[in-house]
Amino acid sequence: MTGARLVARCVSGLETVVTREVLREQLGTISHIGHREVRFSGSESAAAGLRTADDVFQVTGRIPDIGHTRDSLPELARLAAGARLREGAAGVEVSASFLGRRNFNRYDAEDVVGRALSDRLGLPYHSRRAGTAPPPGYAGWRLTMDGQEATLMARVAGRPLHRRDYKRHAIPGTLHPPVAAAMALLAEPGPGQQVLDPCCGAGTVLIEAGRLQPQARLRGYDLDPGALAAARANAAASGTPVAFGRGDAARLPLPDRSVDRVLTNPPWGGQVPPGGRLSGTPGRLWAEIRRVLRPDGRAVVLIPDTAALASAIGHGLLPAHVQHVSLSGAHPHIVLLTPAPDRL
Ligand SMILES: C[S@@+](CC[C@H](N)C(=O)[O-])C[C@H]1O[C@@H](n2cnc3c(N)ncnc32)[C@H](O)[C@@H]1O
Repeated sequence: MTGARLVARCVSGLETVVTREVLREQLGTISHIGHREVRFSGSESAAAGLRTADDVFQVTGRIPDIGHTRDSLPELARLAAGARLREGAAGVEVSASFLGRRNFNRYDAEDVVGRALSDRLGLPYHSRRAGTAPPPGYAGWRLTMDGQEATLMARVAGRPLHRRDYKRHAIPGTLHPPVAAAMALLAEPGPGQQVLDPCCGAGTVLIEAGRLQPQARLRGYDLDPGALAAARANAAASGTPVAFGRGDAARLPLPDRSVDRVLTNPPWGGQVPPGGRLSGTPGRLWAEIRRVLRPDGRAVVLIPDTAALASAIGHGLLPAHVQHVSLSGAHPHIVLLTPAPDRL
């Protein structure tokens, strides 16, 4: 497939999941998988629908890396030459990152490119140097320098993809939507399947699962009425039908072997303490997941470290895939578990 040169940016650890989504949705041809990025060629409007990526950019220019000296900074202005204007943009803003030591900082590089773009496009430039967010409607550009090349890219959507319109209500410990989408993709719920989040918080994981598989039957429980209110509001805003109820994840009002997929980031005591029957004995969650899962079911769970895996295995859940991710300074794992065959 030919098309625009695109770069999907993602949470560290999700590169292969983003690749999988690009291929699953037939969004383009993969050309490179690197740290926190997947490069591919395809349609920029289709790419704006990616759910496991934080953001997607179209490459608008590449020149050899300018090196480490401040004197070379003006060369970056050449990158603005190929820039195209996204319709309706009110201004431009640039975010830069580079590998290796330089005797200039990111703001110096951003300002050279931003001012050149502003001149070329006849639009105001917002510098990030003062630490203030750009005004609404400003087109986002990204500059990277990896020691070999300096690349300028334009954001394909009006704002970063990780910001979801539905997410109007959050709770402490609420999940980054692309990570929730990645969990759903790993679980691969089928049409008509029962998908459960026993600690649903603001509902992010179920809403993302519903986007991936609109014919799944979604069910969420939480102990906290405030979290359930947030989840109901978010699900309504996204147009996703979900059955929410107050319940304890260690004693769910569900029959044995009735659930096809469990998707959850439980309260491990970091930002959110385990409450109810999980307080003091968070391992009870594994026993309950094992009880409600069908023999051919799958659970995809975010765990803080691999130590939690021993407890899962002890409760009859076998890890089939473990994915390390880096998220807001933490380093949790997404783990795909399947029920161990029943002992005779
Ligand atoms: C890390 S948060 C989940 C965040 C959620 N995935 C989201 O995106 O908003 C964990 C949730 O577990 C809930 N919780 C704590 N103990 C529980 C229990 N025993 N049963 C059910 N939910 C519980 C908390 O109220 C909290 O909403």
